[in-house]
Amino acid sequence: MILVIDFGSQYNQLITRRVRELGVYSEMHSYRITLDKIKAMNPKGIILSSGPHSVLDEEPIREVEGIFDLGVPVLGIGYGMQRIVDYFGGQVVPGNKSAYEKGTITVETEENILANTAKEQTVWLGKGDIVKRVPESFQAIATHDGAVAAMYHTTEKLCGVGFHPEVSHSEYGTEILKNFLYHICECKQEWTMKNFIDIEIKKIRDQVGDKKVLCALSGGVDSSVVATLIHKAIGDQLTCIFVDHGLLRKNEAKEVMEVFTEEFHMNVIHIDAKERFLSKLKGVDDPEKKRKIIGNEFIYVFDDEAEKLKEIDFLAQGTLYTDIIESGTETAQTIKSHHNVGGLPEDMEFELIEPLDTLFKDEVRELGTQLGMPDHIVWRQPFPGPGLGIRVLGEVTEEKLEIVRESDAILREEIKKAGLERDIWQYFTVLPNIRSVGVSGDRRTYDHTLGIRAVTSVDGMTSDWARIPWDVLEKISSRIVHEVEHVNRIVYDVTSKPPATIEWE
Ligand code: XMP
Repeated sequence: MILVIDFGSQYNQLITRRVRELGVYSEMHSYRITLDKIKAMNPKGIILSSGPHSVLDEEPIREVEGIFDLGVPVLGIGYGMQRIVDYFGGQVVPGNKSAYEKGTITVETEENILANTAKEQTVWLGKGDIVKRVPESFQAIATHDGAVAAMYHTTEKLCGVGFHPEVSHSEYGTEILKNFLYHICECKQEWTMKNFIDIEIKKIRDQVGDKKVLCALSGGVDSSVVATLIHKAIGDQLTCIFVDHGLLRKNEAKEVMEVFTEEFHMNVIHIDAKERFLSKLKGVDDPEKKRKIIGNEFIYVFDDEAEKLKEIDFLAQGTLYTDIIESGTETAQTIKSHHNVGGLPEDMEFELIEPLDTLFKDEVRELGTQLGMPDHIVWRQPFPGPGLGIRVLGEVTEEKLEIVRESDAILREEIKKAGLERDIWQYFTVLPNIRSVGVSGDRRTYDHTLGIRAVTSVDGMTSDWARIPWDVLEKISSRIVHEVEHVNRIVYDVTSKPPATIEWE
């Protein structure tokens, strides 16, 4: 096990991820962790991570006292290296960089942490202070712009780098981490997602004991994987609530219920709240108002159901590591819990279980696959919480929802047939609030125009429109106008984000 001590950099969780990718289990803990806790973990190596602080501050944040006396190998990265330098009496001075950037370091000796790398190599440099002089008994082995870029202790297993080996821009980053893990810490490549499952199951069992857990299941990847993992750990002590707001895709509610109750034998309460949502949305055409109504109603329905259940102690959430980064680190836990489940009644005190909060999306997908979940859930495209409610522009009616549901099902079927499912990040149909003139047989029609939106993206923050082959688009268009009533025209959205957004509302 490799312990990563978190000093607050945005890249820190990436370190644990890289270490795990190299087959060694890793966990990240706050710099406030106690020495006893570290001893109990019995790590084979410790990585002091980077952070936005300065060792030159009056009261710099520090690693726990005694960490360097444990006889455990330590690698310092950025601020972590400066902590080592400061502790052992070297010299750190203010630098002039205020942003991360690429740079080239010159390696004096390709050994220790820099073994099997190159004389000149591109790295992702940190910002802030730099190391001017290494402490006694340390040797500088690489430099950049007059600063020490890498060093090691000549007799103890202590080393440091002034750049980010965990970031892919660092050309030999993987090699450097391998040197630390396999040679300096003598770790073996034994870690797999299967181990993660075993470890998490044990943790969940220890945390929950014989108490009960509640989970809001949406059918999306994250909540589905978290529910499956927890169910594997504690079986029927888990109850899931699936709120069907009537704004789901065709057959979605049925498929979710089938997978989780029939295949996985989970305890899922299906709440059919369609009427409740549609009546609240009646006459509302403002997008923000619609979102608010759907969001709030979701919470009311969930609360009503949760209140009926007795003696629930824990609430499970599919919070991912990226969710935590996006809402800031230290306080992220509380921000997210409110954001995900919203205003649960204050007298309802749940403890949170968030077993995915160290994972990235692709790791969650791998976990889902390892748990035996079907591909159509594990590879499900992102779907917004307000569902089809924001794909029917203007007032939401059952008739319009039906058009979007049916056309979306055809689109999905054809994209799958064309083998494009995993190439396109998200694809759906939208019903703008317009009608146009058309002709059917020899009759004039005056019916709906339907939009197709398909985008490529990495994280949804930016996107480009997907270049779907013409013949595939033609098939989709022709099927929709023939098979879906009240649609006589199809348009394809060719706007990137920005300036458009992915959804139309
Ligand atoms: P936009 O439309 O903002 O969407 O470019 C970016 C990504 O976020 C999804 N999205 C939402 N997801 N609740 C969600 O859970 C929402 O209210 C919401 N609005 C947009 C959207 O589908 C896309 O993947």
